[in-house]
Amino acid sequence: MSTKHYNIKYLENTGQFLKNLKEFSYKPFTTYHQGLIVDVGCGTGMDVINMANLLGEQINVLGIDHDPVMIQKANSSKGDLKNVEFSVSEVNSIALADESVTGLRAERLIQHLKDPEQAVAEMYRVLKKDHPLVIVETDWAGLTIYNEHTDAAKKLTDYLTEIKINNGYASRKLTSYLRGAGFNDIRISIFSFVLKSLSEANEYLWLEHILNEATDKGYLSKAENEEFVNSLKTSDENGYFACCLNMVIANCIK
Ligand SMILES: C[S@@+](CC[C@H](N)C(=O)[O-])C[C@H]1O[C@@H](n2cnc3c(N)ncnc32)[C@H](O)[C@@H]1O
Repeated sequence: MSTKHYNIKYLENTGQFLKNLKEFSYKPFTTYHQGLIVDVGCGTGMDVINMANLLGEQINVLGIDHDPVMIQKANSSKGDLKNVEFSVSEVNSIALADESVTGLRAERLIQHLKDPEQAVAEMYRVLKKDHPLVIVETDWAGLTIYNEHTDAAKKLTDYLTEIKINNGYASRKLTSYLRGAGFNDIRISIFSFVLKSLSEANEYLWLEHILNEATDKGYLSKAENEEFVNSLKTSDENGYFACCLNMVIANCIK
């Protein structure tokens, strides 16, 4: 088993980095002035708190996550917001009635699921008719490192999509999951992120850490790893390091 590629600090750092994308993802909910918005796989609760502040106190915002450590962190961050709640829950069995939710959001969740279709069906069940779902996913298969060691880079992508991330191609399959569950008016938006230094790539992608893990798991040889990292360091020291990753936002309506 490989370790998770995120923790509380990682979510806080990437949350700042993804600020514009997050704000874009809240837009479909801004037409609602009452009801319940649910952020599924809410992690540290950053998006729940942002949406509660954005949408006003007539709207209730609920964050659910199956990890009690995340929910504890989220509860400790909510301050005196009265319209925010957090709850430990599996996405596959949300303790809410059919058609009871005004809007649903899930960011970087579907990539972790072994049964994404069931999760999307559960989201469909709780959402009111004609109301929005927004899903944000990382396009891990599209990770591009501008470097001549293309074999090593390809092996890194293979490790990420096949081993590290349970559902590594989630971003490519979103429209199929959504159509399969019955959602309509599906629209896709892409946000591209460019990392211009090795330290940024290590902060936002844990690049060297994941390369070492891929090497331990036999995806790259030690020599390939060393050659690749040395070349990344050279490009970094000479000011031409570049790495790019897309994030996909799927908007739809039940
Ligand atoms: C990469 S984090 C993203 C957190 C947050 N959405 C964000 O963008 O900052 C994925 C979150 O999904 C949660 N998660 C993973 N599988 C889950 C499941 N089956 N049910 C509920 N939450 C889950 C994890 O505990 C984690 O907090």
